[in-house]
Amino acid sequence: MSAHSAEVKRMTTHTIQEMKNRGEKISCLTAYDYSMAGIVDAAGVELILVGDSASNVMAGHETTLPITIDQMIYHATSVVRAVKRALVVVDLPFGSYQGNSREALSSAIRIMKESGAHAVKLEGGLEIKDSVIRILSAGVPVMGHLGLTPQSIYKFGTYTVRAKEEDEAQKLVDDAKMLEEIGCFSVVLEKIPSKLTKIVSESINIPTIGIGAGPHADGQILVLHDLLGINKAFKPRFLRRYADLDTIMTDAISNYITDVKSNSFPSEKESY
Ligand code: KIV
Repeated sequence: MSAHSAEVKRMTTHTIQEMKNRGEKISCLTAYDYSMAGIVDAAGVELILVGDSASNVMAGHETTLPITIDQMIYHATSVVRAVKRALVVVDLPFGSYQGNSREALSSAIRIMKESGAHAVKLEGGLEIKDSVIRILSAGVPVMGHLGLTPQSIYKFGTYTVRAKEEDEAQKLVDDAKMLEEIGCFSVVLEKIPSKLTKIVSESINIPTIGIGAGPHADGQILVLHDLLGINKAFKPRFLRRYADLDTIMTDAISNYITDVKSNSFPSEKESY
């Protein structure tokens, strides 16, 4: 049965939770547009994140900070149109929730209303507790994000592994417990030691989704373009490339150029 047949059941925050309960790993990927999201969904991932990594991957910015809420809604709307099964989560972009909880709620409502997505993700722990509570109280499912939080890159100064020291590791465990307690349905753990991921995943009942966080998370997420080998310059240790699309695409385009220049494309059969 294909993932798009009529009998396919939609993934929800509850089915994601049930996966953790029965020890089944959760596969997640990013997507930012209709064509890619359709492929990712049909392939069968359980959760698609419309990440603010669109700022890097789609727009070529150095950080995730410049992307706007309107741009996130544009990406999310395109993804939602393609997805038939996966749970679609959208990042609240930098500047759309840090001011106060009222602003956070109106950003979350805009994203949910205008894109048709199923949940939002916010970066941070205790600092954003009030905002998360307010969003949850409006009935919007929230995914947390701890460890390396790219929206705070100028505070950290580097993209190196977080929470290696005891005090930061303890804060991360406390933040994860707090996010569970107030009602988040899941937490992303980015670039933290594998041992800490194990501690967090065993300390909370909601699913942890790791990126650069080792094998003990309840699920894994990667940026789609990194997994497909489209961005060759990005080579962190945690990344496994499952394809070399850069080479495949470059070869295909070079062949097309050759065919156009030699007048072998289009042929008679490709003409009307
Ligand atoms: O924006 C993003 O792609 C993310 C993932 C790396 C978790 O937040």
